[in-house]
Amino acid sequence: MLETKFLGMNLPNPVMVAAGPWNRDGEGLKESLEAGAGAVVTESIISDIMLDVRPRISSDRFGAENIRMYSDIQIEGWEREMNIAKSGGGIVIASVSGHTPSELAYLASKMERFGADAIELSVSNPAAESLEVVASHADILFDMTKEVVSAVDIPVMVKLSQNTTNISKVAKAVKEAGGSGVTAINTVRGILGVDLETGVPSLSTYGGISGEYIRPLGLASVATIAQTVDIPICGVGGISSAQNALEYMMLGASAVQVGTGIMLEGKGSIRKIVQELEIWAQDHNIENLSEIRGKALENLKAFDEIKFEPAVSHANGVPCSENCSKCVNACMYRAISREGDSIRIDWTKCTGCGLCTSVCPAKKLKLNL
Ligand SMILES: Cc1cc2nc3c(=O)[nH]c(=O)nc-3n(C[C@H](O)[C@H](O)[C@H](O)COP(=O)(O)O)c2cc1C
Ligand code: SF4
Ligand code: SF4
Repeated sequence: MLETKFLGMNLPNPVMVAAGPWNRDGEGLKESLEAGAGAVVTESIISDIMLDVRPRISSDRFGAENIRMYSDIQIEGWEREMNIAKSGGGIVIASVSGHTPSELAYLASKMERFGADAIELSVSNPAAESLEVVASHADILFDMTKEVVSAVDIPVMVKLSQNTTNISKVAKAVKEAGGSGVTAINTVRGILGVDLETGVPSLSTYGGISGEYIRPLGLASVATIAQTVDIPICGVGGISSAQNALEYMMLGASAVQVGTGIMLEGKGSIRKIVQELEIWAQDHNIENLSEIRGKALENLKAFDEIKFEPAVSHANGVPCSENCSKCVNACMYRAISREGDSIRIDWTKCTGCGLCTSVCPAKKLKLNL
């Protein structure tokens, strides 16, 4: 039911584990596969060795910021790590990062020789400014992708950044260069916060924000690519439940990746997401998740296409939550007043903005057209 064909690979399910330190070596990758992942992506491998700065990861209840950059295992060491990773079976995708097409092609062909099933080019790390620029330049990305594609016989996907003005343009360049798919999105440049007593920011330089904070950005990026370029998409950013994974799929993703979710909740959360997906598919009589791919795109129009409907808010008979006045506070048009355990809506004032329907904890409000 969850079997997924992605870039010609047969995944037991569409939930992959994203590139990151949780997949920093063979043991970590094997652990992710044993935890039920449909495929795993290595932490990004580079041709130099970089010392890790300390500290480099910070988190709060909505997600994380990191300036962890790349794998601390040299390319030659990955032969041993790949043997360990693949010893129990399963699909391992090698993430490689670099500044030139030839450097990327060298790393990719080495990883192919070590047993990688596919390559993911990671050229969109927001903590490394020059790579952030690459992520916006369709022509550079085209050259990089083309050289890697001609150096290997396995599928090549390219990880895109939301830190770009036109994600469709870069996704098109990947396709034109022979890339098999895209992953969207990498972390987004940001600062988690500042300690007011010490004046110290969450990390000592700008980092990459991940987790719940970026899910809306990831969803929009995937939808934009799906609406404009015919290329398989792997959705990533803020996924920690089957609901999140399904949202990405309904907006056009064929598979998804989880990173911060497992960093903060452990690898056990992979099986939880996979099981939730199975239950959801059963409950909805879905034989294969490809049936729902892109389902939400037909309801996602360009702004100019939206019709001006005379919608107003209506309340149903459900009693209001105790001490609640969320909709009263939210209505900027002063159309709602609380009356006992219900509310009154003044339809002469309601402009149909829709906000009250999403703030109501009792699901009492609905826009009627
Ligand atoms: C600590 C950390 C390290 C990461 N390292 C890499 C990396 O080596 N290569 C890469 O392409 N993405 C890396 N990422 C980005 C993730 O793969 C993923 O694209 C991003 O975090 C969004 O997904 P999430 O919200 O599920 O974490 C890293 C993310 C985190 C939090
Ligand atoms: S739809 Fe908007 S304007 Fe109408 S009652 Fe709700 S919040 Fe007020
Ligand atoms: S309608 Fe909903 S949001 Fe408004 S007061 Fe009642 S419970 Fe609260």
